[in-house]
Amino acid sequence: MTTSRQGQVRRTPDLPLVLARGSGVSLAVQLGDQLRAAMRARVLPAGERLPSTRGLASRLGVSRTVVTEAYQQLYAEGWLEGRHGSGTYVADLPDVAAPPLAPDRAGPPGAAVAYDYHQAADGAIDLRPGTSWVRDFDQAAWRRAWRRAAEVPLSSRPDPYGLPRLRDALATHLRRSRAVPVDPADIMITRGTGNGLDLVAATLLRPGDRVGVEEPGYSKARTIFAARGAEIVPCPVDEDGLIVDDLPGDLRLVYTTPAHQFPCGGRLPISRRERLLHWARRTGAVIVEDDYDAEFRYDAAPLPALYGLDPGSVVLLGTMSKSLASDVGVGWLMASPALLRAVGETRARLSDRTPGPVQAAVAVLVERGDLDRHLRRMRLEYARRREAIVAALGPLVRGDTAGLHVMVELPGHAVDRVTEGAARRGVLVDTTGRHHHGPVRVHGLVLGYGSASLPDVRKGCAVIASLIKGAPPACAAPASPAPRARPPW
Ligand SMILES: Cc1ncc(COP(=O)(O)O)c(C=O)c1O
Repeated sequence: MTTSRQGQVRRTPDLPLVLARGSGVSLAVQLGDQLRAAMRARVLPAGERLPSTRGLASRLGVSRTVVTEAYQQLYAEGWLEGRHGSGTYVADLPDVAAPPLAPDRAGPPGAAVAYDYHQAADGAIDLRPGTSWVRDFDQAAWRRAWRRAAEVPLSSRPDPYGLPRLRDALATHLRRSRAVPVDPADIMITRGTGNGLDLVAATLLRPGDRVGVEEPGYSKARTIFAARGAEIVPCPVDEDGLIVDDLPGDLRLVYTTPAHQFPCGGRLPISRRERLLHWARRTGAVIVEDDYDAEFRYDAAPLPALYGLDPGSVVLLGTMSKSLASDVGVGWLMASPALLRAVGETRARLSDRTPGPVQAAVAVLVERGDLDRHLRRMRLEYARRREAIVAALGPLVRGDTAGLHVMVELPGHAVDRVTEGAARRGVLVDTTGRHHHGPVRVHGLVLGYGSASLPDVRKGCAVIASLIKGAPPACAAPASPAPRARPPW
């Protein structure tokens, strides 16, 4: 936490800095280039204080000289200014260029959406994914937000793009928590990811259009696209996420979860992100980036959102469902100005909106820092639960660098036995099989840690570990900790 020149309390943005050793470019030059890009994109705005050389060096695992050299270069170029005893700040450069925006890709509308939800039996330990832990949310902050929201007069002509005040607050929040350089004008407030997917589908899809969805992947995305007349094209994933090189060239859009693949947990590497964007530019397809749980990350530096790399090819969907609770019913959609305008027109035609009072309440939570405080607390709590899962099921766990769920890889023949055995002992788990469109190709459990307390996660995992050990030798978990193997898929 630092203080800006205006005296406001600020947090240093969580920048996705990635330095590659042995790339032929010195680490200091790489760091300088990335900081310069962040300043140009205003992810680091004028007046922002940079981390100390010691702090940044330790975060990046490099020597302090690397950071000092990069800062000195940027200082010499006029990007930075230093004040004796008070740190290094981004200089005020009024004519710095903003990131590029791209062409229109809008099309006509189509029809409706289906929903499902699950409820755990009393006393069961629910390790299924899809929910967040909301019991510890600050109730005083919640009541205060609604009191303030109630003071905002109701509007008879609500803005289809959402409350400007919430769009402003979210732009600042996303810049810091996801390093996404976004202008409030590029944001639409939705009722969550499902609503955003439907608006994009209604805007872009004609009956019969081919839409790629990760396989295995988020079944609600498939349902929503299919309900709008699309032909669903399953696009396989591996342990890193979407297999970009195998994408067909005739997709209208592709749905992906690059920060934490649902349900296998892969984190799309930079090289694949770049190839995916190149594919989209070449084929004219739109990438729909579902950024549903990216605010929770463990032991891994954040990677830049696809939207931040090329706002012209990508629609980013975010949601309060994981950072707070799905009950809030607020999310966001970011797109190029032309596409956002088209989505706004679709919304007006469908008489679709996000209720104003809930937007006002969420704006108060974001502006007052209540959401940030909750996220900080929950990052620690979720990290403990995730550690408990890794401690119990170690070498079988995949996709534990982010989010609120992991995958536990098992041989196909063991999945039903473990799932049913766990249910008989009061532990509910999900399987990867449920998330396939076609034949099951990735076998395992999907364990969420948003609904169960730390002691329950431990108990549930002990049950699962004992059931796995009881499996025939070919699929038993190793008795002693073993190095994590690369998954075969
Ligand atoms: C992959 C994925 N995307 C998005 C969401 C959240 O969707 P919504 O904002 O519609 O609640 C979830 C919730 O479980 C999810 O698993």
